[in-house]
Amino acid sequence: MGSMTALETRIPLSSLRRNHASPEGGPLPDLLGRPLHDLRISVTDRCNFRCTYCMPRDKFGREHAFLAHEDILRYEEISRLARIFSGLGVRKIRITGGEPLMRKNLDRLVAMLAEIPGLELTLTTNGALLARHAVALKAAGLHRITVSLDALDDTVFRQMNDADFPVRNVLAGIDAAQAAGFAPIKVNMVVRRGINDCEILPMARHFRHSGHVLRFIEYMDVGSSNGWRMDDVLPASEILARIHAEHPLAACQRHSPGEVAERWQYQDGAGEIGVISSVTHAFCADCTRLRLSPEGKLFTCLFASQGHDLRALLREDRDDATLAGWIAAVWHARSDRYSALRSSATAPAQKIEMSYIGG
Ligand code: GTP
Ligand code: 5AD
Ligand code: SF4
Ligand code: SF4
Repeated sequence: MGSMTALETRIPLSSLRRNHASPEGGPLPDLLGRPLHDLRISVTDRCNFRCTYCMPRDKFGREHAFLAHEDILRYEEISRLARIFSGLGVRKIRITGGEPLMRKNLDRLVAMLAEIPGLELTLTTNGALLARHAVALKAAGLHRITVSLDALDDTVFRQMNDADFPVRNVLAGIDAAQAAGFAPIKVNMVVRRGINDCEILPMARHFRHSGHVLRFIEYMDVGSSNGWRMDDVLPASEILARIHAEHPLAACQRHSPGEVAERWQYQDGAGEIGVISSVTHAFCADCTRLRLSPEGKLFTCLFASQGHDLRALLREDRDDATLAGWIAAVWHARSDRYSALRSSATAPAQKIEMSYIGG
């Protein structure tokens, strides 16, 4: 029972009711009344890129201690948990990493998750291996794909990924995903002032009329290794102003309250873009997301420093009802709103890395 100690000090198993929450009983609220709706599952802490703002080489070199294979949840474990989460009201699952396509036979996990009824199944990838896997992912039942792409210019792109990876391969990945039937594809660009903000307009021009939705993400202070400074952030308002000056935009309705991106459309009908302004306009009030790390820790916030060890329970042969009660208790006790407090609060000493928890 040694491995139980840490989690029992947080949420005593003995205090949990069976059938703690069920979808029939309505959505599961946290301490701020936010329902549990989305689960982001990071399947690996490894990546074939070394984006300077996420896995800088000096911190993620040969000496970096990546998770051992036996510590990472097996696909069977992940899909069992996903069923339990679905019973607690989760309706959307996003597979992330690190780079999720670095995990072998990811389509096998997708197929297992696709068997769970009522779930929207999505994937965020850097696109490097997408051309190879797009058809299998579609066939396995994946619904949507988001590709990270920080520049169109090959020199800027290689500087950003720091793995000498050419941009044409990511573009080929996007094309392959489109050919496989994914639509619309979302393209995420993290904007860093003075590094790739020169690529905002070329990216906007490239993806106009493509049917893909380009989203600009304000550079965030996630993790503890990227040396983030507020000066590096280009506010979403400025990103929009630059695009609007060339191609006039009009605001669109949000699809749902928990959505992170603010949506805009080109007035000339060339399509839609989005901005994710978690630095200048925090969206914590509607945050319905729970995160599962590769080795089975639950994180109630992207900026949390500590997770709740679900793997310990899972590997002790607890039944589904016990796991569900424990997860529900973690969500009930949640009061995180890091981005909303960022300006006034002191950051936790050690935040989890984006490459581990997957954004
Ligand atoms: P869809 O719009 O349904 O495709 O999902 P999504 O926007 O949640 O997915 P995606 O992974 O593309 O999220 C976009 C980016 O928004 C992430 O990479 C993060 O940078 C940021 N983000 C997502 N969720 C959160 C969150 O809960 N808090 C903060 N601060 N940022 C988030
Ligand atoms: N700020 C904003 N977005 C980030 N991402 C990684 N690190 C950061 C950061 N510091 C993005 C990636 C990818 C998604 C998973 O998170 O580019 O699109
Ligand atoms: Fe870049 Fe994503 Fe890999 Fe981080 S996880 S290094 S952002 S590709
Ligand atoms: Fe949710 Fe935390 Fe992001 Fe706020 S900072 S939106 S609570 S994950």
